[in-house]
This record gives sequence, C-alpha cells and structure tokens, in this order.
Amino acid sequence: MKNSKNENYITPKPGQFVMIWVPGIDEIPMSISGCDNNGNWAITVKNVGECTNAMCKLNIGDYIGVRGPLGNHFKLPTNNSKKIFIIGGGIGMAPLKFLSTKLTEMKIKHTLVEGAKDKNDLMFMEYFQISTSDYSEVDYCTDNGSHGTKGVASYVFKEIVEKLTEKNLPNLIVYSCGPEIMLYKLFQICQEYNIEYYASLERIMRCGCGLCGLCTLDPLGLLVCKDGPIFNSKTLKKIQDFGKYQRDFTGKKIGIE
Ligand SMILES: Cc1cc2nc3c(=O)[nH]c(=O)nc-3n(C[C@H](O)[C@H](O)[C@H](O)COP(=O)(O)OP(=O)(O)OC[C@H]3O[C@@H](n4cnc5c(N)ncnc54)[C@H](O)[C@@H]3O)c2cc1C
Ligand code: FES
Repeated sequence: MKNSKNENYITPKPGQFVMIWVPGIDEIPMSISGCDNNGNWAITVKNVGECTNAMCKLNIGDYIGVRGPLGNHFKLPTNNSKKIFIIGGGIGMAPLKFLSTKLTEMKIKHTLVEGAKDKNDLMFMEYFQISTSDYSEVDYCTDNGSHGTKGVASYVFKEIVEKLTEKNLPNLIVYSCGPEIMLYKLFQICQEYNIEYYASLERIMRCGCGLCGLCTLDPLGLLVCKDGPIFNSKTLKKIQDFGKYQRDFTGKKIGIE
C-alpha cells in the first residue's frame, strides 16, 4: 500500500492490523506484514473467500479503503539479553515477517520456526533467505517432511526446549501467530517450562474497533480487535475460549478445529 503524500504518515508496529474495504464486497482484517521508511505498508493475502479473492484480483490504481493501524503490538525486547523464538504457520507468518524485519533492524538476534503441511505451503522463504543475517536464522518444518524437520512447529520447539538447560529457560521469549491449535500447544509448552509467551489470535471481525462484539473472548469479555490481537500467557491462561471456541458471523460460538 503506497503512501501517496510521503508526509505525516503513521508508522505501524509489528502485530498490528488494518481493516481493508473492497468497495461493493466487504471489509476484512489483514495483518501488516511490512512497512518501509516512506510510509508504505505491506499486507499478504491468502485467497480463502469472496473478499480475499476480490483483493487478489485488484489492479494497480484500483481503490480500496484502509482503516488502521489497529490493535496492540508485540512487546519488543530492547537488547540481546533474551533468546527469542518467532514461531508460526500459514498466513500467521504475515505479522511475524514484520516482527522479524523489525528485530533485525534493531540488531536483535532471533530464531524463526516456520511450519506448514507441505514445502509448497511455506511462506516468505525467498524473503527470509535474503533477510537472514547475523541476527536471524530460520528452521523450517513440514507435516510430511518435504522440507526441513518432519513434524509440526510446536513439536520442533519442544525438542529445542528439551535440549536447553534449566538456567536458560527463563531467558526465552516466544512470539507466535498461526492456527490456534498450534498456538495452544506452544502456550502449554511455555507454561510447563516457565517461558515468556505471546500469541496473536484471529477471530471473525466485523467492525475492527470494539463495536460489534464478534471477536469477544469468554469469560473476560476481551476483544481481539481492541485488547489484542496479541495476548500474553498471563491473560491467555484466563481465556477459556483459547484453543477451543470462536464465534461465527452470527455471533454463535463454534468449536475451533
Ligand atoms: C487480526 C487478523 C489478522 C489477519 N491477517 C490476515 C493476513 O495477514 N492475511 C490473510 O490472508 N488473512 C488474514 N486474516 C484472515 C482474514 O481476515 C480472513 O481470511 C478474511 O476475512 C476472509 O474473508 P473472505 O471474504 O475472503 O472469506 P469468507 O468468504 O468471509 O470466509 C472464508 C473462510 O474464512 C473464514 N474466515 C473469515 N474471516 C475470518 C477471520 N477473521 N478469521 C479466521 N477465519 C475467517 C470463514 O469462516 C470461512 O471459513 C486475519 C484475520 C484477523 C482477525
Ligand atoms: S470486531 Fe467488532 S468488536 Fe471486535
């Protein structure tokens, strides 16, 4: 998304999202996957339905509406005293790419763990190949073993954790985004080993600004669009919906697969 004036622009923070309005179709949430120094922001779209399909067909010069940046952001470390893991899967890699870029700019070392069903589903491989440096490295894993370690990202992370000494564990931070089942497993591992943990949650959103209630998390009544999308372990522990339920477009609670 190009900033046409190149002045007085807002700088989004990793983890924040925008509401994208495609005229005549819908308005939907999208994570910010990048941002340059001229006020241009990037989003990364997975074509899953009517609005994302319309977005994939947009041409340069077509008009869309953009509201944001919205929501909270990943709390960033200020130095290299912590060992940082960024763990994600699927389109959840979009905000994590922005986070990795920011940490690299800040010269903060981190390890990315990206999981997917198959090597063809892995995202940003080319980008990470170019951007990995003294400050970042990437471990890939696939369910079918077609690239990297065979297994899911939470399994790979557990193997890493089990090799670390007890002394190192309190020095770890995990930032994550992706399928909620994966986020829940990572949360359980981090709880077991007392590791600082942040997860970016996804819910169906209508308004994106705290009005419609579709993204409510029970029983605290927290809103993913306003109080999130990033939540830490302390809060996740109290969210009974986490890993279990979300709401459909009518507000009815449905199970998370
Ligand atoms: C904070 C946040 C950040 C997101 N970031 C991205 C991103 O960077 N890139 C990206 O491609 N997608 C992202 N999504 C998901 C994206 O908003 C949905 O895929 C999109 O709204 C689907 O719209 P559609 O009209 O194309 O599909 P629809 O026809 O509305 O739905 C297609 C399928 O997607 C499901 N779905 C719809 N909305 C959501 C939703 N909000 N969360 C989960 N499932 C949904 C529906 O239940 C249905 O199964 C994000 C969602 C949230 C809440
Ligand atoms: S999307 Fe409407 S309250 Fe969150």
